[in-house]
Amino acid sequence: MSNGSELQHAVEILRSGGVVGLPTETVYGLAADATNELAVRRIFAIKGRPSDHPLIIHVADAQAAHAWVRAWPAEAEALARAFWPGPLTLVLPRSPLAPDAVTGGQDTVAVRVPGHPLARALLSALGGGVAAPSANRFGGVSPTTAAHVRADLGAEVPLVLDGGPCAVGVESTIVDLSSGEPAVLRPGGISPEQLSAVLGRTVPVRQASSVRVSGSLASHYAPRAGVELVSADAVRRRAAALRDAGVKVAGLAPDSVALPAGVGRHFLPDDPAGYARGLYAALRDLDAAGFERILVVEPEGGGVALAVKDRLKRAAAPRPGAGGG
Ligand code: TXA
Ligand code: MG
Repeated sequence: MSNGSELQHAVEILRSGGVVGLPTETVYGLAADATNELAVRRIFAIKGRPSDHPLIIHVADAQAAHAWVRAWPAEAEALARAFWPGPLTLVLPRSPLAPDAVTGGQDTVAVRVPGHPLARALLSALGGGVAAPSANRFGGVSPTTAAHVRADLGAEVPLVLDGGPCAVGVESTIVDLSSGEPAVLRPGGISPEQLSAVLGRTVPVRQASSVRVSGSLASHYAPRAGVELVSADAVRRRAAALRDAGVKVAGLAPDSVALPAGVGRHFLPDDPAGYARGLYAALRDLDAAGFERILVVEPEGGGVALAVKDRLKRAAAPRPGAGGG
């Protein structure tokens, strides 16, 4: 775990235009001062992310969020009161403070108040906003420990604050409040049912039309190994067939699912929250163990299971340059 002097060092790095690895309750972020365009461009360079894909601005509290937006509708106030600090990102019309480098030149900006104590301490000490995408290389699996960040980004990010493993394990829910018709752009730690309960109306999940929402790209959140989604009933036979064909195959499944002998295995809790918490580390572990194919049995149920299924669908999608459809 990081201590107070590391926190102070992180604040100094951010003030002088550098980047730091930052724990949040969802996944680790790669943070830079959101008002410093050069620092923000460094994030894109380190991640290998297209420069027109917008970033989320993280602030210490709802009051601090107001500076970055030009409208704060009643829905924003209600959702902020209910879920901040926490795994919720709000998309609102941007204020002039939000630079093009962060918004990708769009007229909206994404803001969130993270719940992790170390992130909150950093943002309070800094007194500003940090732009922070997940601290992985573009298209890969998001990091949920400081070691994941170091493994992905290494020497390019000299300081990674260590806040332990992330409690939620998948990225924040993104809600678009910029058009009067609230909609979920990315499922995450807060479910559509929770949002609907607070707003008193159904909040649909809308696929963002713009490819600039990188989390909405077909192939994303993907490990090196090929990912195949299978049902709990089918996994034994499929794993055995691949094993017999000489494929280095592993199963990733809820505890209650049975896997055949002679294949790798990584079990996750049956409950969706536990499954979400362990998902990214499991994909990384199976990659590190050299498996060529990961057969994934999804968790059952609602809530954060929706976010897990969204990420797994993208992890399993055909990869650019991989040939075939
Ligand atoms: O949980 C999280 O949200 C993590 C932690 C570090 O806070 N961050 C994260 O950032 O997942 P990133 O950059 O990996 O994903 C941010 C998503 C992208 O899909 C991006 O396109 C979308 O937010 N986004 C950012 N600004 C937007 C905007 N103005 N309108 C629509 N989508 C936006
Ligand atoms: Mg990401």
